[in-house]
Amino acid sequence: MRYGHFDDDAREYVITRPDTPRAWSNYLGSRRYGGIVTQNAGGYSFYRSGGTGRLLRMRFNGVPQDESGRYVYLRDDVTGDFWSASWQPVGKPLDGPGAYRATVRHGLGYSVLESSYAGIDTEMTMFVPRDQAFEHWSLRITNTGAEPRVISAFSYAELANDWGFRQDLENLQYSQYVVRADYRDGFIHRVNRTRAATSECWFALSGAEVVSFDTDRDAFLGAYRTTAAPLAVEKGECSGSETWGDNACASLHTRLELAPGETRQIVFTLGVGSPDEPWDDGDAVLPPGRELVAAHATPERIAAEVDALREEWAARLAPLHVTTPDPQLDSMVNVWHAYQTHMTFNWSRGVSLIEAGDRDGLGFRDTAQDILAIVHSIPDAAQERLNLLLTGQTAEGGALPLVHPLTHTPGKEQAPQLEQYRSDDALWLPMSVTALVNETGDLDYLSTTLPYADAGEDTVLGHLVQALRFSLEHRGAHGLVQGLAADWNDCLQFGVEGESMFSTFLLANGLRAVSELAALIGDGSVAAWCVEQLSLLLEAIEGAWDGEWYVRGISAVGVPLGSADADEGRIYLEPNVWAVISGAASPGRARQAMDAVHEHLSSEHGVALCAPPHTRPLDGVGLSLLVFPPGHKENGGIFCHATAWAVVAEAMLGHGERAYEYYRAYLPGRHNDDAGLRQTEPYVYSQFTHGPSSPRFGQSRNPWLTGAASWTYVAVTQRILGVRPVPTGLKVDPCVPADWDGFTVRRDFRGRSVTIQVANPDGVNRGVAMLSVDGTAVDGDIAPTDLLRDGSLVEVVLG
Ligand code: GLC
Repeated sequence: MRYGHFDDDAREYVITRPDTPRAWSNYLGSRRYGGIVTQNAGGYSFYRSGGTGRLLRMRFNGVPQDESGRYVYLRDDVTGDFWSASWQPVGKPLDGPGAYRATVRHGLGYSVLESSYAGIDTEMTMFVPRDQAFEHWSLRITNTGAEPRVISAFSYAELANDWGFRQDLENLQYSQYVVRADYRDGFIHRVNRTRAATSECWFALSGAEVVSFDTDRDAFLGAYRTTAAPLAVEKGECSGSETWGDNACASLHTRLELAPGETRQIVFTLGVGSPDEPWDDGDAVLPPGRELVAAHATPERIAAEVDALREEWAARLAPLHVTTPDPQLDSMVNVWHAYQTHMTFNWSRGVSLIEAGDRDGLGFRDTAQDILAIVHSIPDAAQERLNLLLTGQTAEGGALPLVHPLTHTPGKEQAPQLEQYRSDDALWLPMSVTALVNETGDLDYLSTTLPYADAGEDTVLGHLVQALRFSLEHRGAHGLVQGLAADWNDCLQFGVEGESMFSTFLLANGLRAVSELAALIGDGSVAAWCVEQLSLLLEAIEGAWDGEWYVRGISAVGVPLGSADADEGRIYLEPNVWAVISGAASPGRARQAMDAVHEHLSSEHGVALCAPPHTRPLDGVGLSLLVFPPGHKENGGIFCHATAWAVVAEAMLGHGERAYEYYRAYLPGRHNDDAGLRQTEPYVYSQFTHGPSSPRFGQSRNPWLTGAASWTYVAVTQRILGVRPVPTGLKVDPCVPADWDGFTVRRDFRGRSVTIQVANPDGVNRGVAMLSVDGTAVDGDIAPTDLLRDGSLVEVVLG
């Protein structure tokens, strides 16, 4: 079943059936003011924080699934028939005579919801203008019939009583009694003074007169009614309610007389602050709502702002553009996949319809990995975020599991106890720093001094060394890294007594990366120390070879997990891919391990995390993944983040067919025509897909904010297409299917725009036979920085 298609020229995904199996959403705005909107106008908005700045209420896991939202109801004032500008919440029939038709165009930073019903067409554009703390729902209404029509339009959104998401949804004996909202001269004004802060917002209508209003939710909806049929809409008039406790809403009603063929445009605007006074948020002063609406809520300004948003996103995605023999790959990488990596970087795991709604903190490991996918596009923002992470590292070398950007105070944070540390967190830093330095070429960054979270300071290189030391010092009986609270897999707890192969390989990777960085700035002693530690570690790693693959770890009672002897969790994906990525496995072991992965874990939807899934506890290792049914999530599900590592590992081994096969297996766009099976948005990666042992094999869950987006972007652009920055230039080391005859990548690199044209006349998977920069042949597979200029053409022949 297909619900829509990609429109690559417009950079939009077009939903043509609004009854998608799950809500298909989009992200609006910036970290200052942003939100989510679904194809049925569901979703919420927030100011500065998804957890404590929640303007619009969202009832998580609500029924129907994406209630509440930003709704506009339409009513024929002659017949009394009413519907909504989004298919839901009224939900008119989609089939049969007089059916409701909807088309939703999700674009980059905006969504356009079109409807056609009873001779009236609507087009509602929802977006947050750049750098603003307000959002527009701009509605064009057209009478497509031959008779004049009288149509009422009513807005509706639930304004959260308390911007603190938990207070608003849980502490009703308090939050329901703090809220106030009233109406004056075209503006609804909602204000409350909670113990925590004063929060204010306004809501306005432009382009038509307000005929009636409601600010009280229950007055608008009516008792025992739902948003499918609000009382005010049924009656054709709001009641003029003031909110004095209970629950607020934003309903402004207007009545439009539309001649045949006539179009009217009206604009609803929701903003932070007060209608009449400037509003000081502590960081900036927001102008009064009336000033903003007068300046912004005009058709011309709205069109210009949507264009500006489009241009801004085009510019942000422009630094990397690919043309390959696979149009689905191109369409994803050039538009939605790239956009998703930015959303993941922006919102981390906080602002989502799925992820913990009150989480403002940046997960340390998640953020370190998210940086990898956007550093070429927004290196300054990447560096700023990386600095924040480095200051979230404690002086002993571990890291705070969450760094709270709004309140983080380096030097004053409390260091976790040893058993509270995640054994992988700080070990991601070498990779992120390498990515930044390779991208920018700025080696001075390594000598920048930054504070630790709890006490003291060090250079960036010093921070990295400390991360390595921490893991080297916290190793277990077999010389492998202690598992502590968890490693990358949040659902495996090896503890202080047990050891994690994942973190051990990540340490090996870090030792190699830091030795290379140290060598670049001439710090021979650090480089030599890393090399020596790595060779000692490799000896310990030898003991973790199980015969055909690497074990996942060793439990506190000395028993390996992920071993052929076990009947559950016999083989795990993560240690085997990281054995390859870290370079710790010999070529023979690497091949054998990845063949075992292929045999035991791969499927047509991706590579499962482990097999067979667990059903019973194990002595000496915490298996919190047992909470998931077999085949689900970390318990043998296809965790797409880790499938991306399998793509990387296969490409590193030169197996172009298999790398591409894995990539295609979970490529969202590939599933556009069987979207009924996959269920989540075909334009974004989901965190996981039900694995082969689940009865729901193939269903994906948890779209948008996932390391799957970040790592798959790295996998496809840097490993399949093989274009990646290295200290001396741009390396071009593709690993492609043999039947690809070539491809092109246009990439920004250190201030230059470079086009890389790869030809594959002999149909090989890998191997650079010839590389030239603007006609000058160069040995090897690196286009050196000093030969590259703006507009350079790098020609590569594989063979
Ligand atoms: C989620 C978490 C991430 C973790 C992964 C595997 O994606 O955000 O931190 O590594 O699950 O458990």
